[in-house]
Amino acid sequence: LPKEQPYRTAYHFQPLKNWMNDPNGPMYYKGVYHLFFQHNPYAPVPRNIAWGHSISYDLVNWVHLEPAISPSEPYDINGCWSGSTTILPRGKPAILYTGVDLNNSQVQNLAMPKNASDPFLREWVKSPHNPLMSPVDDIDRSDFRDPTTAWQGPDKVWRVIIGGRINALGMAFLYQSKDFVNWTRSNKPLHSSTKTGMWECPDFYPVRINSQNGINNFAQDKFTKHVLKASFNGQDHYILGNYIPQTDNFSIEYDFMETGFDLRYDYGKFYASKTFYDSAKKRRILWGWVAESDTALDAIIKGWAGIQSFPRSIVLSANGRQLVQWPINEIEKLRTNNVSFEGKELEQGSVFEVSGITASQADVEVSFDLPNLSETESIDPNQVDPQQLCSQKGASTNNGTGGPFGLLALASKDLTEQTAVYFRIFKRDGKHVVLMCSDQSRSSLREGLEKPIYGAFVNMDPNDRKISLRSLIDHSIIENYGGEGRTCITARVYPKLAIDKEAHLYVFNNGTLNVRISKLNAWSMKRAQLVPY
Ligand code: FRU
Repeated sequence: LPKEQPYRTAYHFQPLKNWMNDPNGPMYYKGVYHLFFQHNPYAPVPRNIAWGHSISYDLVNWVHLEPAISPSEPYDINGCWSGSTTILPRGKPAILYTGVDLNNSQVQNLAMPKNASDPFLREWVKSPHNPLMSPVDDIDRSDFRDPTTAWQGPDKVWRVIIGGRINALGMAFLYQSKDFVNWTRSNKPLHSSTKTGMWECPDFYPVRINSQNGINNFAQDKFTKHVLKASFNGQDHYILGNYIPQTDNFSIEYDFMETGFDLRYDYGKFYASKTFYDSAKKRRILWGWVAESDTALDAIIKGWAGIQSFPRSIVLSANGRQLVQWPINEIEKLRTNNVSFEGKELEQGSVFEVSGITASQADVEVSFDLPNLSETESIDPNQVDPQQLCSQKGASTNNGTGGPFGLLALASKDLTEQTAVYFRIFKRDGKHVVLMCSDQSRSSLREGLEKPIYGAFVNMDPNDRKISLRSLIDHSIIENYGGEGRTCITARVYPKLAIDKEAHLYVFNNGTLNVRISKLNAWSMKRAQLVPY
């Protein structure tokens, strides 16, 4: 590996080197957290995909083990692709994964631990019955993959869904089994959509109404709703609905890509994610792949490509209409060097440095009091694309709205490099409308990088008088949680100047209206341990 690694993360999960994409089969087993991931052990390019495997006691510090499964058999020789784990009733875990077979068809396979009493689960044995599910009839053999965690209905029959497509219809195929080995496809998919194309990495799980606790994949009653997530168009989209296990009927509130109600886990770089139920702490945790936005050649120079988001707890919002995410509390053990202040007024044009922390490796929480509604511009959020609005309005101009105000992260001292993460406030029907943007266009003086501008609205309660932002800054990633985690935007950036000690953090306001920081807390972050076994 090259000595200088300004973009390598300090507390976001990565293997020691080479390629990583999707998180696979996360679980808690016998006191140990497991994370598997799509991994090329030999090079920083997406080939020879195996299941990388790492373990942890706290989801922060990790030990890397040998890959759990690697291509070896006719049914997976061209790749061990994404899948999930299921803890079977007697407590044994099982892996269901996609194999790319000799003919490049995608099939679904099973692997079991060689020794289930080993909490590290170092060795896995592929089932002699593989492949268990093959793309027959109308299923496209190259778009049939990524089994979810399975669940058992009240009839004790197992269910699992597989991502795929029939012609232009993206869908979640539903399969059933009595013994986890012999699976039959139900003639009705769990759900499908004409607006999406192929669904990768579906996820399907219950969330509790009015509760911060998670719930296991089997549970379902009048206190739960179900989430269906599908990965397509480079983004993780989700819908909410009611699932009836007796009939496998999933009735939804809004469909994928509905105008004015397009829900995503994250409106930046975040894909192929997966949740699991953490029985130790009764919560549901989300992992997502955050790809690079530099080039394939940069990956060769760095010797690695791909990181995971920080693990996020995921719950239903109090109004039941969306999910809310937040970095798991364990992150706090990495915090050091707190800087904090309250009640600071920011006039138009203020740029205020948050000094005293390592700005390249930080956790920042800031809360702003919203400006007076009567003076802000009107807007109908159903008529505009938030991402476009972020591009048009920008971080430096003001046309009579509240803001832009927010953070300049991974900024150089002279501000020629900066990633602006900010809000703009509009009004609609006498209520606040909050736009959240993450603008990478000035993030680096380097050429040849993707430098997108991301944007999304933050749903507001009519009584909200403030808006908060939490940013996890880690060398080449900025993970942003707006409005207590109601809107998340993750970005990758590769500054030339603003690296390590040359990185700075600022709070700014370019709106004509004053903005008040009600509270700001920032911490330097320690490096997490990521070590080989
Ligand atoms: C999503 C994905 C999956 C597939 C895997 C291959 O990023 O394309 O659909 O199983 O990656 O690595």
